[in-house]
Amino acid sequence: MCGIIGYLGYREAYPIIINGLKKLEYRGYDSSGIAIFYNGKYSLYKTKGRVSELEKKIFSIKGTTGIGHTRWATHGIPDDINAHPHVSNSKELVLIHNGIIENYHAIKIILLKNGFTFKSETDTEVLVNLIEYIQKKNQLSLEEAVRISLNEVIGAYSIAVIEKSDPDRIVIAKLGSPLTLGINEKEFFIASDPTPFIDYTKNAIYLKDGEMAILRKDKELDLRKIIDNHKLNPIIKELKINLKEIEKGEYKHFMLKEIYEQPKTILDTLRGRLLISDGLICIDGIESNKEIFINAKCITIVACGTSWHSSLIGEYLLEELARIPVKVEYASEFRYRNPIIEEQNIVIVISQSGETADTIAALKLAKKKGAFVFGICNVAGSYIARNVDAGAYTHAGPEIGVASTKSFTSQITVLFLLALKIGKYRSTITNIRYEFLCKELISVPEKMNFTLKIDNNIQKISKLYHHVNNFLYLGRGINFPVSLEGALKLKEISYIHAEGYPAGEMKHGPIALIDENMPVVVIATKKGYYEKIIGNIQEIKARKGKIIAIVNEGDIQASKLADHIIEIPIISEELSPLITIIPLQLLAYQIAYLRGKNVDRPRNLAKSVTVE
Ligand code: F6R
Repeated sequence: MCGIIGYLGYREAYPIIINGLKKLEYRGYDSSGIAIFYNGKYSLYKTKGRVSELEKKIFSIKGTTGIGHTRWATHGIPDDINAHPHVSNSKELVLIHNGIIENYHAIKIILLKNGFTFKSETDTEVLVNLIEYIQKKNQLSLEEAVRISLNEVIGAYSIAVIEKSDPDRIVIAKLGSPLTLGINEKEFFIASDPTPFIDYTKNAIYLKDGEMAILRKDKELDLRKIIDNHKLNPIIKELKINLKEIEKGEYKHFMLKEIYEQPKTILDTLRGRLLISDGLICIDGIESNKEIFINAKCITIVACGTSWHSSLIGEYLLEELARIPVKVEYASEFRYRNPIIEEQNIVIVISQSGETADTIAALKLAKKKGAFVFGICNVAGSYIARNVDAGAYTHAGPEIGVASTKSFTSQITVLFLLALKIGKYRSTITNIRYEFLCKELISVPEKMNFTLKIDNNIQKISKLYHHVNNFLYLGRGINFPVSLEGALKLKEISYIHAEGYPAGEMKHGPIALIDENMPVVVIATKKGYYEKIIGNIQEIKARKGKIIAIVNEGDIQASKLADHIIEIPIISEELSPLITIIPLQLLAYQIAYLRGKNVDRPRNLAKSVTVE
């Protein structure tokens, strides 16, 4: 995780760096730091806490070269000393780093034997001293010392290094962690993602793994391969990001804005892909690999967290509509097993960020085993997007709130399109059902808009329950993963312990937890396993549990039994997760807000988990 940023040019660096760090805080926010270079010296500030804490420590710093870092701790607790930038023993080199140096301990022992000392517990301080050691020992330029050092390192990194005596040069390098470079005439911007610099330039280079660049004031970019110093031709891309998408607007939090954006993001996901008049679904990655999908014997979906929950919904959809056996795996488990991938197996990797370390490792393993890998990603140009055999973007726009909301529904939408399309190819779905489901899909944004109007009701319920310590979420069939997702949303932003369960499993254990203090959120929509769910609600009621039921408009049976009801529009079972998740997102949001928690930046979490 962690966000890194740098500037080299003719403008004052401080405002660019500090404002950029605020935009990168979603990547980590337990400490931050900045170094600005001026007249052969540098000013260095680091602090525990958010970027706003760092800002309070600084009055004004002059200088047109600078780097900054916002941290999500891996090695060493979040404090001022472990915060980046890190400085070498001679104080000549200053470095920021996102990633993990796995063999840092072995390198540290060698450096200690050679007289180096360390203030922090970080792997990054080891790296900056390794570069210094190699540079001094061999009388090398900074870039050559960086290059040789990185060839000694095992792990993942995106780094930027500056030498005090030559502040008109920044050396950057990437392996595994994201790094983009913004380019303008006579200036360079470095950042973990392009949002900090799109105000200044739309020309960007996404560094590839194993690449490094030497940025010099007033000089052309020098791009090289880390392994052998081979010179490369930079490929400059034009960024297409809308600034409005990354502002909160009238909303209190990004999470709330992103929940409310969902009717629009679903339309964006569908745009150009569903031609309802012709009953056509067009997804390039599928069209061009039609035979592979038609002949697929098995699909394995691999993902983490919320993306794993949408994968479970994908399992239901693909099995139901395309009749292909599907397995869903946690990327963190898949990568360390010896999974069986046979001929005609497809692996689908799902990731909002496209940078999740475990999912990337799973993707690499799947490819090594010869699978055809299809990616579902939100962030364009991300590692996963670039390294799959084919794929489909979710087009949900930048998701800034750490808790995923609109990505979840856009991933389900892509999975639904996929299942319908493959079902049609394989003739496992009748024309009538296909046409009906396409029409239902088109109705989703309007039904979402309707559902979002229930927020007042949810605020009232949240006021009654925001003080409790436990919650249970129950669902059946395709809404079981929605109960998992509802519980995850609540626990990650409100810090209330919450569990999602298949309602039918309740009697095998969780029922012991139920008493008058246990709120149970039950997804009791009509088209699912309604009668079965009514039975489960009665079991909860008999034990005095408090029932919050998600029901369809006009519902009678579940509504009579429940303590609180949240009404949502009727939609076909296959598409219901797109609607049932909305009250659960809002409930988590309102409860966390009433508990005074930092909704967009929950403790210990980060938006992209680029480390193991
Ligand atoms: C939960 C959440 C995480 C992510 C997980 C995977 O709200 O955001 O559980 O879903 O870290 O991230 P991606 O989808 O970027 O691979």
